[in-house]
Amino acid sequence: MPSADEPFALIIFGASGDLTRRKLMPALWSLYAARTLPEPFAIVATARTEMSGEEFRRRMRETVGEFARLQPPSEGVWERFAAALRYVPGDPADAGLYARLARTLETLERARAGPPNRLFYCATPPSLYDDIIAHLGASGLAAPRPGGVTRIVVEKPFGRDDASARALDRQLAATFHEEQVYRIDHYLGKETVQNILVFRFANGIFEPVWNRNHVAEVQITVAESLGVETRGAYYEEAGALRDMMQNHLLQLLCLIAMEPPVSFDAGPVRDEKNKVMHALRPIDAARVEEVALRGQYGPGFAEARPVVGYRDEKGVAPGSRTETYAALRLLVDNWRWAGVPFYLRTGKRLAKRASEIAIRFHRTPHMIFRRSPGGVEANSLVIRIQPDEGIALTVAAKTPGPDLRLGPVRLDFRYGEVFGGEPPEAYERLLLDAIHGDPTLYARADWVEKAWQLLQPVLDAWSEAPGAPLCAYEAGSWGPAEADRFIARDGGSWRKP
Ligand code: NDP
Ligand code: BG6
Repeated sequence: MPSADEPFALIIFGASGDLTRRKLMPALWSLYAARTLPEPFAIVATARTEMSGEEFRRRMRETVGEFARLQPPSEGVWERFAAALRYVPGDPADAGLYARLARTLETLERARAGPPNRLFYCATPPSLYDDIIAHLGASGLAAPRPGGVTRIVVEKPFGRDDASARALDRQLAATFHEEQVYRIDHYLGKETVQNILVFRFANGIFEPVWNRNHVAEVQITVAESLGVETRGAYYEEAGALRDMMQNHLLQLLCLIAMEPPVSFDAGPVRDEKNKVMHALRPIDAARVEEVALRGQYGPGFAEARPVVGYRDEKGVAPGSRTETYAALRLLVDNWRWAGVPFYLRTGKRLAKRASEIAIRFHRTPHMIFRRSPGGVEANSLVIRIQPDEGIALTVAAKTPGPDLRLGPVRLDFRYGEVFGGEPPEAYERLLLDAIHGDPTLYARADWVEKAWQLLQPVLDAWSEAPGAPLCAYEAGSWGPAEADRFIARDGGSWRKP
């Protein structure tokens, strides 16, 4: 395992894409600027787009300026970072690319001392992973170099259904040892998501109420105001269920629902999350409509400017039935959670960017303040994952005045106020973990398979039944009207973040 000052080379496939632009490069830069990136390092970027190394570095400078948490303190510091960036154009389906990558890596490794540690990163549409892994195997690049370690990070969605995820696992197993493989889900690297386990298991007061006796329902929302931007081609093969629900939202559900692990180590944490996946009630293929709903955005507004509907986005088929919104109602059939509904929803071009987990508790069994008009809101605990990261507990309090009136007040922990500044980006933490060889915050193969198995009836219903409902919603709204009816069937309503 490389220590903090051991060298490494990161090889990014799909380096002209959105992930590299908005997340990977800004995270690498912030790590470097905070002096936490092991050195010496090299970042070898590849994609089909033809451009020179100079042009790539120029684009990365722009992207860091736009998206990085830490900004370059001076051009000199940026230049030192940029000197480690290489761009090797090529098609990941072409064997010749791997020979060129091997030569580039050998040259870089010869020019500096230390072990030849390599980290490959698949940041392309998932349909290309097969080709990349096969070529890494055939070219010999998958094998660790003498004295070094070689690892591979595979972006979500891992496969596109249960069968393809298993096939991908078999292919990875034929090329890499399991300890080399890192299945990334960047939500697990978010500070506020890591805080869920700290909040639950480092405080004695929450665990006693964290069960069906006290919790009435859990709502998990990951709302984006962004549309599909330049990613139409990728998104058409994914959709909201594969892009967000199968990974990010189910991971959040597991962190809320899991039992305490015996320690905060990869094995115990992942074991407990898997038990939740086993406890999730399977979805009945004949009753998908009762537990799953999808939608697609039409034209509307984003931040007060008019925007086109999904079908008019670049790279999207005019008659596309890809969902940009998905909602699920899930039950965790175990002792702790029996009967508590978990509502999950995610969508693009919603009213605002807001990710949160809201836990609504039961009302008091008997209300003694009968004269308070309007009754009292049930207690709720809201974990805000982003933006305005924090945790708020809503309790009832007496409002000032001669009458005994009650109103909700929020006990609010705001990350920015307490710790100052923005929390580090998820990719900063996760890239470091992969470089250092710590898989605790990465997804395990059996978890991923279980997640696909759970959603398979929904995937089938949405892809095979031509008339399966696809509800329209206006860009800039909170999703389709049908989503309100979906939750109202149980007597509930969606929280407005
Ligand atoms: P993009 O579509 O923006 O980028 C994909 C990259 O793959 C581009 O560099 C493109 O480069 C290359 N590519 C696309 N099609 C092909 C093809 N047919 N053959 C060869 N290369 C191709 O996607 P993203 O960067 O958004 O997503 C990539 C992965 O990252 C996905 O698995 C996604 O789930 C994941 N991800 C994305 C996040 C994000 O915020 N964007 C966040 C978390 C995960 P070129 O055309 O130059 O070859
Ligand atoms: C990615 C999805 O996994 O997560 C994107 O592919 C989505 O569609 C992104 O925009 C959201 O991540 P974040 O960290 O901005 O909430």
